[in-house]
Amino acid sequence: MILKKIKIAVLISGRGSNLESLINAAKNKNFPAEIALVISNKSDAYGLEIAKKNSIEAVVIDHKKFSSRTQFESKLHKIITDKNCQIICLAGFMRILGARFVNKWHDKIINIHPSLLPSFKGANPVEDAINYGVKYSGCTVHYVSPELDSGPIIEQAVVKILPLDNKESLALKILKEEHKIYPKALKIICNKLN
Ligand code: GRF
Repeated sequence: MILKKIKIAVLISGRGSNLESLINAAKNKNFPAEIALVISNKSDAYGLEIAKKNSIEAVVIDHKKFSSRTQFESKLHKIITDKNCQIICLAGFMRILGARFVNKWHDKIINIHPSLLPSFKGANPVEDAINYGVKYSGCTVHYVSPELDSGPIIEQAVVKILPLDNKESLALKILKEEHKIYPKALKIICNKLN
């Protein structure tokens, strides 16, 4: 039986290493998803290069060119639906999405966050974990809900924090785990749709 791959839009703002991990996972013929579209709100995001290298359509939608968040999000929605994408993966996308957009994509939009949610929500989770002095942190893939970093959890991985760890070393250890759990989580939710 030929697997019908679900089309995915990945939203980025920068480096794109999680995007790359999803692209690589989707190269497997048994993976239930295909990365069909990459959208960046920043024209200099390195992830755009990764998309191009893999012959994936990549577009820049600069939020600064829109007079309101609603207009920016309408454009996002149109491009994603025009391309027949059924799921949105946020991968280092540095814009907060409004409730209207998020509710439209209920159960179809997921995010990766570098902490063990519900601990250390927000913009500096790695630094916050170090400063708090927790002995373990990690990463979480979760459904996106209107409240920041709060939707139902799909997958997590734990990372031990060693006494000599700093923000950079911990971020790197967490990132390695991110690259494992994001494809795993995407597979879980696509299999539910199939
Ligand atoms: C990752 O740490 C992810 O958890 C967070 O933003 C970072 C994006 O990194 N949401 P990359 O662009 O995927 O390399």
